[in-house]
This record gives sequence, C-alpha cells and structure tokens, in this order.
Amino acid sequence: MRILLISDIHANWAALEAVREEFDVCLFLGDLVDYGLEPNPCIAWVREHATHAIRGNHDHGAAQEVYLQGASGFRYLTGVTRPVTCAQLSADDRRYLATLPSTLYLTLDEKRFLLVHATPRDPFDEYGPPDPEFWKRRLEGIDVDYVCVGHTHVPFVLQVGATTVINPGSIGLPRDGDPRASYAIITPEGIELKRVDYVVGDTIRLLRQSNLPEMAKNLLTEIYRTGKLDKKNGHQEVVVERTVEMPKLA
Ligand SMILES: [Fe+2]
Repeated sequence: MRILLISDIHANWAALEAVREEFDVCLFLGDLVDYGLEPNPCIAWVREHATHAIRGNHDHGAAQEVYLQGASGFRYLTGVTRPVTCAQLSADDRRYLATLPSTLYLTLDEKRFLLVHATPRDPFDEYGPPDPEFWKRRLEGIDVDYVCVGHTHVPFVLQVGATTVINPGSIGLPRDGDPRASYAIITPEGIELKRVDYVVGDTIRLLRQSNLPEMAKNLLTEIYRTGKLDKKNGHQEVVVERTVEMPKLA
C-alpha cells in the first residue's frame, strides 16, 4: 500500500496541483484554508481524494468564522486572509471543515495510525518540534505504529520508542527555508519526505491581484519565495516546550 501524507495546504492550489503521486490512500492532516486565496479547488480536491482527513486550527477558525487581529507575522496574515477565506466558503464546505475530526485512529495494512494536526495533548495549537523527549511525553498511553502530525510546516520523521512520528511539512506554505511543496509517502519499504517545485509565480500573481493590504502581499510573497518569514517582519520563533515535570502526589 502506498500512502500519500499531506498537510497544511493553506488554499495554495498551484502547490497542491503540483503533487503528482500515485497513491492507494491519501491522509490529510489539516489546515486546508487561510493565507492562500484559492480555498475552493483545494477543498474540492481533498473532499474527492483524501481517504481520511482531520481538522486543523485554521479549518476550525474559518468554519466558525473566528476573526483575529494581529499586528505582525502569521497572526496578522491569518487576520487579514480569514475574511477572504470565509467569503468564498459555501455553507456545505463550511460544514465539511467544521465536522472534520480533531483526531483519528485508524488501521491500514495492519499498522495503527493516529492522525492529529498539532499534538495529542492539544490537537489544534501546540507546536511539536522534532524532539524525541517532547514526543515521548506526548505519546504516553498512545499505542500506535505511526503518529502523523502537521501544524509546524516543518517536515521530519522521528522514531520514539516503537512509534514513528511523521510530519510531512506543508504543501502550501513551507516554513523550513525550502519553498517547494512538502509531503510524505509511506510504503512497506519506508517513509520518504518529498519536495516538489510548483509555479510559485501563479500563487503570487493571484495574491498581487487581490485586495489584501500591501503588507500582507509583501509578507506572503516573501514566504512563498523563500519558505520562511524573516524575524524582522514580526515572526516570532516557535518556543519549544521543555520538560516541566509535575511533582507526583503522595
Ligand atoms: Fe498550518
């Protein structure tokens, strides 16, 4: 069985369309919408092709029409792109996003999978770094072969005891310094993290033609072109949670 693992499409149709992989099963790990300006073809593709899908924080926020205000960085970009997202969503697509599960356990080829957008402790918001100690704590009591996560937009494969944690990175808005669309393929032979070039100019042209503020156009162009957002543009580095062991009750 050949499994295509994708996450964090963020309404970037040119990037999603560039992924030309044969697959038996497609698993989508959340964040279909926000930042990008083409949610509809992305939602249609996932609804048609993803065998299983879960809800990301952006899917949840857009489906519930949560409007944010942020002065800088990704919070600012979420704030200015969400109204554009919500204006394009049909009632049916909003219901689809709203009712996607926040976590999903399934078995494929006798392997047990847990799908969750962020982490099992906090399915929507916690950043799970490629740190074995972090994941060892998060996986306590979870007995599966694969934990598949997204959210950080940084791909990794990590062995934690008997469990393999896989983050396929982001299709539509990579943040690891490589602007190509990022995804993973799982086969009985192993796990492959893959990248594919896409016509980023198509995504940027749409952005430039939009009514988004100039600051949003500039920030998004920077991320689409470089695969990251410079700190001078207000991006806060992700704070990696360190162990805080609670004293055991007597
Ligand atoms: Fe995301």
